[in-house]
Amino acid sequence: MAEVKFGVATSHVPAIGVAIDNGKEDEPYWAPLFEGYEGARKWMADARPDVVILAYNDHASAFDLSLIPTFAIGVADEFPIADEGYGPRDIPPVFGYPELAWHLAESLILDEFDMTIVTDLPVDHGLTVPMSIVYGKPETWPVRVIPLAVNVIQYPPPTARRCYDLGRAIRRAVHQWDEDLTVAVFGTGGMSHQLQGERAGWVNTPFDTSYLNRLGSEPEALAEVTHTELLKEAGSEGIELVMWLIMRGAMSREVREVHRHYHVPASNTAAGLIIFEGT
Ligand code: DHB
Ligand code: FE
Repeated sequence: MAEVKFGVATSHVPAIGVAIDNGKEDEPYWAPLFEGYEGARKWMADARPDVVILAYNDHASAFDLSLIPTFAIGVADEFPIADEGYGPRDIPPVFGYPELAWHLAESLILDEFDMTIVTDLPVDHGLTVPMSIVYGKPETWPVRVIPLAVNVIQYPPPTARRCYDLGRAIRRAVHQWDEDLTVAVFGTGGMSHQLQGERAGWVNTPFDTSYLNRLGSEPEALAEVTHTELLKEAGSEGIELVMWLIMRGAMSREVREVHRHYHVPASNTAAGLIIFEGT
């Protein structure tokens, strides 16, 4: 049986990818951030999931305002690295798992989550930066990846509760898959940040700390946090945190926190990382 055993939530700040690609991890600005990623990379080298289901948001790379799926699942063999305006990152392509992805699509849709099915999906920093954070710079990614894109760009995004419930449905779907696979679910984005308007540069460390503290033990309470509260406390782009609840919903009720890191700033953003093991 396939099992969701691991959960990773992490920011996906594009500048982190640029720092990795250009060998800047030891520079004074970046060193304190990357020191906190060492434990995550060591953990991942042991954990070695077979498949990652990665919840992220596309930032107008694969989709634009002409097409805005609330939840989209990538069912392709391979996902090219998106060109976000300065050429694609020089990293390996991301290989999918079409059979499992189609099973997830079927199970989720019959479970009343109306997924958009995507066969042609260039993946941007929302997906590739988390991969680089936990895997570093391998020749090829040592895992198959099923991208799950969530609209948090154009109002209205899905609620935190809907994301949490989608995670629960992902867990049910994975556990129906009759193959011995260890699955990790990633939720990406956040933590507090606002890239635009009068509050550009907004960071709220007390809010982020509380979110990290509660994610393991009180996910049901975090599922009740409204968009307005997220905007107010975490900033306009901090709304990405709803995707962390997809990960948490896919985990067992009880989880063990195995790694945590929080650092300000990464670009204009509070960068957070938390890893859970479940049963
Ligand atoms: C930035 C972009 C993001 O998508 C994000 O989640 C955080 C930061 C940025 O451009 O700095
Ligand atoms: Fe983002």
